[in-house]
Amino acid sequence: MKIPVNKPTISELEIKYVTDAITNGWGDHCYDYINQFTEILKAFFNVKYAWPTSSCHGALHTVLMALGIGQGDEVVVPDITWIGSVSPAIWLGAKPVFADVLKDTWCIDPVSLEKRITEKTKAIIVVHLYGSVCEMDKIMTIGKKYGIPVIEDAAEAVGSEYHGKRVGSIGDFGVFSFHGTKTFTTGEGGAIISNRDDLVEKISTISNQGRKPEQHIMFWVDEIGLKYKMSNLDAAVGLAQFERGRELIAKKREIFEWYNDALMDLPDIAMNVELPGTKNLYWMPSIIFGDSYHFDRDVLIKDMNAEGIGLRPFFYPVSMFPMFESVEDNIVSWSIYKRGINLPSYHDMTKDDVDTVVSSLLIHIT
Ligand SMILES: Cc1ncc(COP(=O)(O)O)c(C=O)c1O
Repeated sequence: MKIPVNKPTISELEIKYVTDAITNGWGDHCYDYINQFTEILKAFFNVKYAWPTSSCHGALHTVLMALGIGQGDEVVVPDITWIGSVSPAIWLGAKPVFADVLKDTWCIDPVSLEKRITEKTKAIIVVHLYGSVCEMDKIMTIGKKYGIPVIEDAAEAVGSEYHGKRVGSIGDFGVFSFHGTKTFTTGEGGAIISNRDDLVEKISTISNQGRKPEQHIMFWVDEIGLKYKMSNLDAAVGLAQFERGRELIAKKREIFEWYNDALMDLPDIAMNVELPGTKNLYWMPSIIFGDSYHFDRDVLIKDMNAEGIGLRPFFYPVSMFPMFESVEDNIVSWSIYKRGINLPSYHDMTKDDVDTVVSSLLIHIT
């Protein structure tokens, strides 16, 4: 691809830390970068606890297990998200219950969410889609009203803010992805953050194959756990990325502004929104075309990909997949997906690259 949809920005700093980690980060030093990465995560999100993981999937699996989610439980999730928000609950035997999303932010609709709550609901997972910000006050009020923990899946929104707080730090738990397509990357990777004191030991135990933090008998296991740890090498990349945090966030926002300036006068489209009091990271600048457009979305993607421009389709409603019962009354989710595309936004993109994408797009949609 001449203009890929996403790829990381790797500077001298990442190379310096990884070179140090691979040269010296063994034996007594094998956790040095993991410890520093943990500290920078706590500072960045202003939270008490952080656990780097090998993926967001692993982070969510660990959190749900720590909350005791299991057979017969229900977990409410938005219908529009990546399957990674949903599959960990299923592996624990729980049932995902799909709520609709809002037309403007594409994030979970609090009214639909509340309607999906039953006495079996044991967790609410909200997703800050493409960097957009969920209505956290309303969601936290619902969580408190029913005594159900709220997990923020901020895989796509590291750096987005809600009334001065970084998303992920508002709910009971926040989980993140540092996959190579994300704004902050470690190649593959993720993290859990929380301010909750009561589940710290449980999360640490589950994360370490069921060995309690105070367990000093070698190879003694206290319970069945998981192992989704991040490596010291990956943490070295992550440390450099978070030290460059301001730069990474500013560039994503700049790229979105270039698209917005070029496309905002197009009639009958919707792009990512930034509601008052929020800050959108704009992980994926995206467009939903209205009914007045008659081009074939999938042909457009194929044709522009052939020109070397990396477009992606909007996520499908998860309830559309064959292993679930369709929830077609999630009307917004089931209508926006087929008219939506994600635009390229890798950090090293220039204004000229954005102009190339926009010119090609305008030809293909008319
Ligand atoms: C919203 C959301 N949740 C979870 C995940 C899973 O992340 P990972 O690939 O790090 O497991 C992703 C990945 O793209 C995602 O977009």
